[in-house]
Amino acid sequence: MSLNIGVIIGSLRQASYSRRLAGALTALAPAGMALQELGYGDLPIYNADLEADTPQPWQRFRGEVLACDALLFVVPEYNRSIPGGVKNAIDVASKPNGKNCWVAKPVLVISQSSGPLGGIAGAFALKQTLAGVGAATLPHPEVYLGRIPTLFDGDGPLVADTQEFLRGVLLNFETWTTRLTTRRQT
Ligand SMILES: Cc1cc2nc3c(=O)[nH]c(=O)nc-3n(C[C@H](O)[C@H](O)[C@H](O)COP(=O)(O)O)c2cc1C
Repeated sequence: MSLNIGVIIGSLRQASYSRRLAGALTALAPAGMALQELGYGDLPIYNADLEADTPQPWQRFRGEVLACDALLFVVPEYNRSIPGGVKNAIDVASKPNGKNCWVAKPVLVISQSSGPLGGIAGAFALKQTLAGVGAATLPHPEVYLGRIPTLFDGDGPLVADTQEFLRGVLLNFETWTTRLTTRRQT
């Protein structure tokens, strides 16, 4: 049976590099992994008062996170941190108390930037938040893709060596996820 991997694409703009990367990762993923995007752009900003009549998008998103074997975040860096919508999605699925959907979920973080540093500060901010909600983020290999426009062949696919690197990362993530989910079932 294949692993169900939810993909959080950290940019809402149509021509997003994060989205292009997520598409490339879907094609590079091993046969045992099925990647599917989880939308979060419609989630109202977290406000505990709304729990009394839980917004439907919150219910949907929480259910989707729970149903995933693991999560893949493909994110840009925004002002040395993560995009607000991504943080809100994590907040929403971490509540209410006692129903945190992220606990022990295997996670892979991939950051990218048009600049040289590959969004490393954003990735670190994301990993800090994921640690706070109890997710099991893959420690190695780390993936910070700098000068992202140069990693694509124009409007085409990722360049070959980046494809090869990411194929290896996904294999590591498959092993990580299999190990953790097997442990959970025993
Ligand atoms: C609000 C905002 C803040 C940004 N802050 C940073 C930053 O701190 N560091 C960085 O390297 N790039 C920063 N960028 C640039 C983007 O992260 C970068 O161009 C990225 O490739 C865009 O991702 P996308 O194509 O998936 O939207 C920022 C962009 C925006 C819109």
